[in-house]
This record gives sequence, structure tokens and C-alpha cells, in this order.
Amino acid sequence: MNRPWSLIATTPMGLESVVARELQQLGYETQTENGRVNFTGGPLDVCRANLWLRSADRILIKMGQFPARTFDELFEGTKAIDWHDWIPAHGEFPVDGRSHKSQLSSVPACQGIVKKAVVDKLKQQYHIEWFEETGPLYRIEVSLLNDIATITLDTTGPGLHKRGYRKQLTGKAPLKETMAAALVQLSRWNPERPLYDPFCGSGTLLIEAAMIGWNVAPGLRRTFSSEAWSVIGESYWEEARDEAFDAVRDDIELQIMGSDIDPEAIRLAEAAAKSAGFGREIQFRVAPVAQAKPTGDYGVILTNPPYGERLSEQEEVDRMIRQLGFVYKTLPTWSMFVISPNRQFEHRIGDPATKRRKLFNGNIECQFYQYMGPLPPRKPRPEQQS
Ligand SMILES: C[S@@+](CC[C@H](N)C(=O)[O-])C[C@H]1O[C@@H](n2cnc3c(N)ncnc32)[C@H](O)[C@@H]1O
Repeated sequence: MNRPWSLIATTPMGLESVVARELQQLGYETQTENGRVNFTGGPLDVCRANLWLRSADRILIKMGQFPARTFDELFEGTKAIDWHDWIPAHGEFPVDGRSHKSQLSSVPACQGIVKKAVVDKLKQQYHIEWFEETGPLYRIEVSLLNDIATITLDTTGPGLHKRGYRKQLTGKAPLKETMAAALVQLSRWNPERPLYDPFCGSGTLLIEAAMIGWNVAPGLRRTFSSEAWSVIGESYWEEARDEAFDAVRDDIELQIMGSDIDPEAIRLAEAAAKSAGFGREIQFRVAPVAQAKPTGDYGVILTNPPYGERLSEQEEVDRMIRQLGFVYKTLPTWSMFVISPNRQFEHRIGDPATKRRKLFNGNIECQFYQYMGPLPPRKPRPEQQS
């Protein structure tokens, strides 16, 4: 088995640079492609990346990459991989697939060929004819792009957005946790500044911000499929978890607040915040946006207002955006960051954004409208204080 391994952090569309920056902050060199950020590392790095990456979808190990214009090429390229170094005789190894701009365009057929090649190789090594697949999960993916096949193993299991703090899955259009974490990082918020979400729903943006504020690794409360892999080993997981526990900064005071018109959403938000360990640190309130009351100076409003899917709802959404604009105008030192698909947003707010960035919330094309207020004054350094 060659080390270091080629690792891939898969990313939602448009968030490659955010994930690359997260990896760089963890000390990795990165190389970015569409929807993926490549880096290298060994078993401990797989554990660290899974525990720490906030905006990535999953961490894959690149097992092989080769030209595959025919099923024979796909079969031989897959069979050349030393699968027995990774997958034990009782391992479960389903195969997912995708194909883009490639001659091998039938995804089910490609999945079948890859499965057959892996089975053939394992048969040779383990000298058994039938694999029960009752053991740990080794999800394989074959991805074809421009006639090049990339074969990967998924180390993550359920996507990284599943942090484990949301026990009840309801709420109106909650943001994915990975997207919420990206938006917090794209805003200019840091824990020295107040944060307010006036359409907080189930509280995703605020909980992700609190985790960033206290330097809590987002994966600390969940497990990953590669925790059961002997090639990684329990001790690396233990080491990475210990590091993550030691890194928590729960001495930092947070000023994080949110409100929503829906009492049920606030109940869910409070439950999720409590389960994430921020039951007392985030203040929630039932209130319409017009009565949102951000407190403090140099704060940040970060929010995703309702989209108004039906035409009949559009007027109501426009009114809410105007009300958000009125609230913002009462906060001369604050900045505001809003994700919305509404093309009239700046018009309704009454001011052009300082900056805009195209982002996809799921499949919905949105803009991230950024209104930059003044930066907080620099704190005097200790020797300058009298
Ligand atoms: C797109 S959702 C926000 C989802 C949230 N970011 C999350 O992750 O759960 C919009 C939220 O706006 C709330 N809302 C609708 N009308 C409102 C109003 N007039 N004032 C405040 N909140 C309102 C809804 O109850 C809903 O929770």
C-alpha cells in the first residue's frame, strides 16, 4: 500500500475554495478541481479531515485513476488495485457510480464491472467463492470524467453534514450544516462580534457559528465508516479525537442570538443547540423580523430569509426583506450577509450590496449578498493598556 494516500474532500458546488482554505488551515497543501479538493496524507489525516472539515461532504481515498474507454479497460484498471490490502474477507463493498462526458455512459453497467473486478481480485487473494459482506462498510465509487476513471473508497459514511446534534428532522427548509458553516466562514464574523439571525429556523447558522467560535470539531459527536477499518486503526481515531477535545475553547464568550416567527422552529433550534453543547450560549426568541432586536456593536447579521416558492408568497417575502432592511438601517456599525435566490433583494433592501457571490443552496441558485459595515476598532495590545 503506497503512502501517503491521495485524499479527496468532496465539496458542494461553489464551496471548493472554502474547503481548500479549511484544509490549508489544518496544515495541508491542496489542489482544487470542480467539486473536489485533493490533498495527501495517511491514516491520521483521514481521521483529522473527517473530524474537522466543516464545509466538505465526505473524505475519499483515491485508489486508482486510469483511462477507461471500454469495459475491459475499466475492469483491468480496477482489478489492478490491491483491494485485499483494504477490504477484509467479510467487508461490505457496495459500488456507486457516475459518468460525465465519457464513452462509458451507463452508470449501472460501470458499477457492475467495477464490482466484478473487485470480487475477482478478492477471490484470488482470499481463496473463497462467495463474499457474505456482513462486516465493515467500504463504499467504492467509480467516477468517469472525459474517459478517465477514478476509483475511490469513502471513509466518511453518512455525509459530513450529519453532525449528530439535530435529533428531530423538521423545520422549514433548514440549511445544510456544511453550507451554514461555509456561510459563517464567508461572513466577517468572529467570536468577538455579536451574531444575529432574524430568520433562524432550526438555528443551523448559529450553531455552526458557535462551533467555529469555540473551535469545536464538527465531527466530534458522530462516527465514521472508516472507524471500523483495520487499515486506519482505532489508535489514530483516538489520537485525532483527543486532539479535537483538547482544542475546544469553551472559555470564549459568545454573543449569538436568533429569532423566528415560528415557535415550533425555535423549539427545534433550542433542542439542537442544547444537543450541540450550546444550550446556554445561544439566545433564541420567537419574534417576527420587524421585531428583531440585535444588541451590541460591530455585529453581523447572517441569515437566509424564506424563499417564497409560490408566486402568491412573493409579496410577503418582499415585505419581509424590506423589514430586514429597516432593522439593518438601525444598526450603523453592523455588517449583513444574506443568502437568497431573490433577484430583487438589493432593490427591496434599498441599498446595493458591497459584494455578491453566486452559491447553490441544494439546487437553488442563490446570491450571497454582503453588506460590509465598519470593522471593529482594534483592541489595544496589553502593553498599550494603562
Ligand atoms: C429558509 S428558513 C430558515 C432556515 C434556517 N436557516 C435553518 O437552517 O433552519 C426561513 C425561516 O423564516 C421564518 N419566517 C417566516 N416569516 C418570518 C417573519 N415574518 N419573521 C421572522 N421569521 C419568519 C420561517 O419560520 C423559517 O423558519
